[in-house]
Order: sequence, then structure tokens, then C-alpha cells
Amino acid sequence: MNFEGKDILSTENMTKEEILEILRVSAKMEELCKTRHVSDLLADKVVAVLFLEPSTRTRLSFETAVKRLGAKAITVADAKTSSTAKGETLADTALTVEGYVDCIVVRQPQIGGAKVMADAVKIPVINGGDGAGQHPTQALLDLYTILKERGTLEGLKVAMAGDLKYGRTVHSLTYALAPFTPKEYIFCAPDALQMPEHIVADMKKKGIPCKVTASVEEALQADVLYMTRIQKERFSDVAEYEKLKGSFILSRQLVEKGKKGITIMHPLPRVDEITTDVDELPNAAYFRQAHNGVFVRMALLALVMGRA
Ligand code: CP
Repeated sequence: MNFEGKDILSTENMTKEEILEILRVSAKMEELCKTRHVSDLLADKVVAVLFLEPSTRTRLSFETAVKRLGAKAITVADAKTSSTAKGETLADTALTVEGYVDCIVVRQPQIGGAKVMADAVKIPVINGGDGAGQHPTQALLDLYTILKERGTLEGLKVAMAGDLKYGRTVHSLTYALAPFTPKEYIFCAPDALQMPEHIVADMKKKGIPCKVTASVEEALQADVLYMTRIQKERFSDVAEYEKLKGSFILSRQLVEKGKKGITIMHPLPRVDEITTDVDELPNAAYFRQAHNGVFVRMALLALVMGRA
């Protein structure tokens, strides 16, 4: 399977074979990191890491991945310091940066913005999150984590809870896991933050049973519970955010009432939706999940630059 020169923009049309190949290379990268701190696989490459929205995990794990593969990164970590703040279009930014680097990783607030950049240039573009759209590299590291934690991706009952409307991580995860025939998706959110109807309809078309609920107790009967933050930055009406924040909070007491061994995941950052007493449970996987991001992003960089 050849990923050279390909963009990673969405999980919507990724095949099972493509996903399994990315996860296979991710496992190789994890092994590489155990034995060799820095590889020279991408020693002649430069990667632009353009983050026009805040990030800790995605930006830093991409920069770590770049360094562990021996490449160099040029970084924008604050939209105010790039010329997009002067009104430059994403296409013009991409066309300019294409002259400097071999690959662009971008996070920006506009749904479809990464595709606009990818359409403008010939080098690979990786979407590090486009507003409330998609976050494909997060979904791939989520699958890598599920595989490590559960031993399989096939036939799982997976619950997603929190902000499913604006949550790009859950949009990407829903599509990424679909080829592995989930037993059921449980979408758990207040009505105002439920999974977009077109995504639920897409899953039903694929024959995946979907339960739409506001009950955390129901979500806790899954094999995997994927919690998300209510994202203040996506609300135009602060009063609406204030009404919905803290809609449900996962405590240790609640987890202990759920399915035994349920894997608790979260893309992070969290605010208050998982209490810190959950962290010490062996099935609380969210910090391991964040660490897995380095291996998956190393794999993606190596694959799109034809060196995996
Ligand atoms: N999960 C995630 O995308 O985290 P950051 O916003 O910190 O990159």
C-alpha cells in the first residue's frame, strides 16, 4: 500500500486495509523508539507544523515525531504570529510554505480548511484538526490505543460521551472504527450536543446499530467509553455553554457501577468531565492514549513521505 504524497484529511473514506497498515507501521515506530532514541529515516526532510488554534498533544507529539525521525520542524504555535492574522488565505499560506518544506501539518478553525490547503499544493498535508470537522490523526491513535488496550478492534460496543456535535475527535473516530463492524455505537450527550444526524445516518447505512441517549449509565455498559470535553470555544452563545457544561461528570463511583473492565478514553484536554480519582484505575487509558500519539504520528509522517 503506497501512502507516498497522500494527504491525511479525514477518516471518512479510509479503508480497513489502509488503517491496519498505519497501525502496523505505528507498532514498528513504537519498537524503534524502545531501541533507538532518534532515527535518521527522515533526516533530509523538513516539516511545517502550523497550529493556528491552541494545542498541547497534537502539536507537541507531531514535533516529537519529527525529531525522533531525524527530520526538522518549523513551527507556528500561535495564529497571532502568522500572516493569516493579516488576512492571508489558507491557500496562499500553503503555497508559500510548500516552497520551504516537504510536508505540512495544520490545525486551524475552519471546517474543510486543511483540504483547502491540500488542494493548493503538491506536498502532503496532514489535518491536525479543522474546527468542528475532523481530527484524523487523533482517531488513528485512538484505534491504536483500543487495539493495545482491548487486543482487538473488531465487534466492540463503543460509547462516546460529551460534546458529540462539535467534537471533531468523535466524528473521526466514528468513521475510523466503522470498518471493524462495531457491535453498537452509543452516542451519549444532551440533545443540544448530540452526534450530527448525517453521521448517525451514515453509520446506520453501514448496518451499525446506534443508540442515541443522554444516560451515562447506558454508556457505561460499553466495552470502551470515550469521554470528551464540552468545548467552550465552539459556542457562539456563552449562556448556552454555561447551561451545558458539567452535563455529565464521570466519577470513580460511576465507573465502578459500569461494565467490568470498561476502557475509559479521552482525547484530552479534560476540564472536569472525568474526576481525577478515575486516573488511577488500570482501565483509565487516556494518558497512555496521549503517549501513543507519537508513534502513530511518526508512522503517518514516514508513510506520506514514502519512507515507512
Ligand atoms: N487531543 C488533542 O487534540 O489535544 P490538543 O488539543 O492538546 O492537541
